[in-house]
Amino acid sequence: MKYDIKDIKLASKGRLRIEWAGSQMKVLNLIKQDFAKNKPLKDITLGACLHVTSEAANLMIALKMGGANLALCASNPLSTQDDVAASLVEDYEIPTFAIKGEGKDTYYNHLNTVLDFKPQITMDDGADLVTLLHTERVSQLAEVIGSSEETTTGVVRLRAMLKDGTLKIPVIAVNDSNTKHMFDNRYGTGQSTIDGIIRATNVLLAGKKFMVCGYGWCGRGLAQRARGMGSQVIITEVNPLKALEAVMDGFEVMPKSEAIKTADIICTATGNKTVLSVEDLKNAKDGLIVANTGHFNVEFDYDGLVQIATKKRLLRAQLEEITLPGGKKLFVLGEGRLINLASAEGHPPDVMDMSFANQASAAKFLVDNKGKLKVDVYTIPKEMDDEIARLKLESLGIKIDRLTEEQKRYLSSWNEGT
Ligand code: ADE
Repeated sequence: MKYDIKDIKLASKGRLRIEWAGSQMKVLNLIKQDFAKNKPLKDITLGACLHVTSEAANLMIALKMGGANLALCASNPLSTQDDVAASLVEDYEIPTFAIKGEGKDTYYNHLNTVLDFKPQITMDDGADLVTLLHTERVSQLAEVIGSSEETTTGVVRLRAMLKDGTLKIPVIAVNDSNTKHMFDNRYGTGQSTIDGIIRATNVLLAGKKFMVCGYGWCGRGLAQRARGMGSQVIITEVNPLKALEAVMDGFEVMPKSEAIKTADIICTATGNKTVLSVEDLKNAKDGLIVANTGHFNVEFDYDGLVQIATKKRLLRAQLEEITLPGGKKLFVLGEGRLINLASAEGHPPDVMDMSFANQASAAKFLVDNKGKLKVDVYTIPKEMDDEIARLKLESLGIKIDRLTEEQKRYLSSWNEGT
């Protein structure tokens, strides 16, 4: 079996971590049982490009139980958990190509190696596999049934491909499921980003001015959690509706040029590029801690900072001190890569449970509808999304009420007024 990982001897540690994560992923476990029995992915080759974590390992195990032949690579050079990658190879015989800290060339070699398996389904977190298929590996597109996409940034890229006519395969936007973005993006990012910042710095958040760039689902979650830790949270936004929502949620909202002068900690969560340029960052307070939790490392200009730095030192894992001309010091986390995975372990398994239940359902949906889907960006059917919510509630031991027949009739009628 082909693979490229850091060290196979790490497998025993990874195995236990995969087991622990799996014990928290109750909905995915139900899917595992169903997949083991019904084999909906029998003989399907599936290539995945995901953050290689203990949670993603459980998704891979579910897909394998469903009958799929798998190959897995990392969706970010810094997010791989090397012990998990080792266990996937040693214990689950899943060809895995991922090494924490791999360079750009290795990163793309790994993606290409996964595509060498000739997948009929691809699974992306950030749309790098789909992009490669549509640029350098076009001849393979005819064999592809479809793809699924995990994250907001990937979905934005796919919709841009659809709009300019480049996209040639049906794609399921897993991120658009309610049971994905309302929970993973908000509560997952909220908690794991704070975790990443704390692990990298060990600073006290209470009393700090904490600037969050972007008030989408991720920014909202992060702002809530930073406030919960006692920080004074400042939001910057470009969208008036989201900015208004932040105001009414009780946050200070102001332009970045003002916020940056007072912030102690900044975290970008926008999905966009150069939200903070070198010129913006020059106006920061001495000692600013700056991090990103968006998918790509383009949200603040890390490379630009490094270029003008008069000195750069690594003080702790994922914590660099950058001295600017004039002597001001900025503390940059994780080289601008998503800090929740670069410095912590990503979202907790309880929330990835729903995201990956969606991914597994998307793979089954693509196989069940093979040849029937036109080229488009789809959301999984609402009933599947609702079912995941229902199963999650059930796994939490929470019961809810049901509409009476009278209430159902009332909701579908119009003639009963005051
Ligand atoms: N994205 C964010 N958190 C993650 C995790 N724990 N596993 C895989 N992908 C993630």
